[in-house]
Amino acid sequence: MNFKLKNDTFLRALLRQPTEYTPIWMMRQAGRYLPEYRETRKQAGSFLGLCKNPDYATEATLQPLERFPLDAAILFSDILTVPDAMGLGLYFSEGEGPKFKRPLRDAAAIKALRVPDIGKDLRYVTDAVTQIRKALNGSVPLIGFSGSPFTLSCYMVEGGGSDDYAKVKTLMYNEPKLMHHILEVTTQAVINYLNAQIEAGAQAVMIFDSWGGVLSHAAFHEFSLAYTHRIVEGLIKEKDGLKIPSIVFTKGGGLWLESIANTGCDAVGLDWNIDIGIARQRIGNKVALQGNMDPAVLFASPDAIYKEVEHILGSYGYGSGHVFNLGHGISQHTDPEHAAALVKAVHELSRKYH
Ligand code: CP3
Repeated sequence: MNFKLKNDTFLRALLRQPTEYTPIWMMRQAGRYLPEYRETRKQAGSFLGLCKNPDYATEATLQPLERFPLDAAILFSDILTVPDAMGLGLYFSEGEGPKFKRPLRDAAAIKALRVPDIGKDLRYVTDAVTQIRKALNGSVPLIGFSGSPFTLSCYMVEGGGSDDYAKVKTLMYNEPKLMHHILEVTTQAVINYLNAQIEAGAQAVMIFDSWGGVLSHAAFHEFSLAYTHRIVEGLIKEKDGLKIPSIVFTKGGGLWLESIANTGCDAVGLDWNIDIGIARQRIGNKVALQGNMDPAVLFASPDAIYKEVEHILGSYGYGSGHVFNLGHGISQHTDPEHAAALVKAVHELSRKYH
């Protein structure tokens, strides 16, 4: 499986090598805003049924690429497959998002946590990666991903989504040792999981620290970034003679860009709060940047989308090292035609900067 990529613009941008234009993919590019995704999910019976069947997962991964000339594909799966494999019992209740049947509510449950056997418990993910790579047939690179240990712990302790993170923060402040134990086990699981995705064919990997931004400065460094750092250090860096770049995305991480860049990752994902030009001044000599359009811009007209794309590209300025993306996941209420306008705008307007 060592065929040459027809379009490696995304990988070159992550390594800050010259490109002809700024590559783009969209966070959560496969999903409910696409009618064909809703159809596939119906056939699969449920979201988890879709994730756990490599044929359906391949179909969902390819759907956005059939519509838009995106520069990367991302594995169709979810960050919560890891705690599910650790025995917490993931399920989705209609309209309420993800939930766990057995959340971590006492010391006994926390001490009983084990690193899952990836080859067995998450085999459906690595099988999907292999199958997606085959189906892509060298068109664009495939991104593998995982949640950060802190973000996964939020769901594992809260038992689902949360507005205030009260349970996980109470544990963190009352019983820091127990919190560190969850993070230790989860870190080892994530390293094994991402490396298994790389072995199966993922050509770049992304770590989603979606909730790191809810922490204080000190707590972020101790309970989130320290573990992300260990993951980046533990990743396979090269496969078949090609570098496997890593991207670290922390929602709300604008205050901590320098420390995030110091993890050794190749690129830092930005949400939309920070000006990308300022982010480049701060860490652009060290890493590539991925981002950072507010996904809500896609509710506005194609004209407004073009203006915002021009603003972000102009703010980043000349040269490589920028992967265009949204600052968080695309909303399920987005008109697919507006997503098409975004991809077209980035491809057209970015040429003059390269
Ligand atoms: O193209 C892609 O990017 C799809 C792959 C993907 C999904 N989830 C599919 C999904 C990825 C990369 C994720 C990551 C993920 N999952 C994150 C990190 C990114 C972020 O948004 O911060 C997080 C926090 C989750 C956890 C999760 N999964 C939530 C909070 C939800 C419910 C809310 C929502 O947006 O639907 C999910 C479900 C989920 N994961 C769906 C999809 C397509 C919707 C499920 C459905 O079809 O009903």
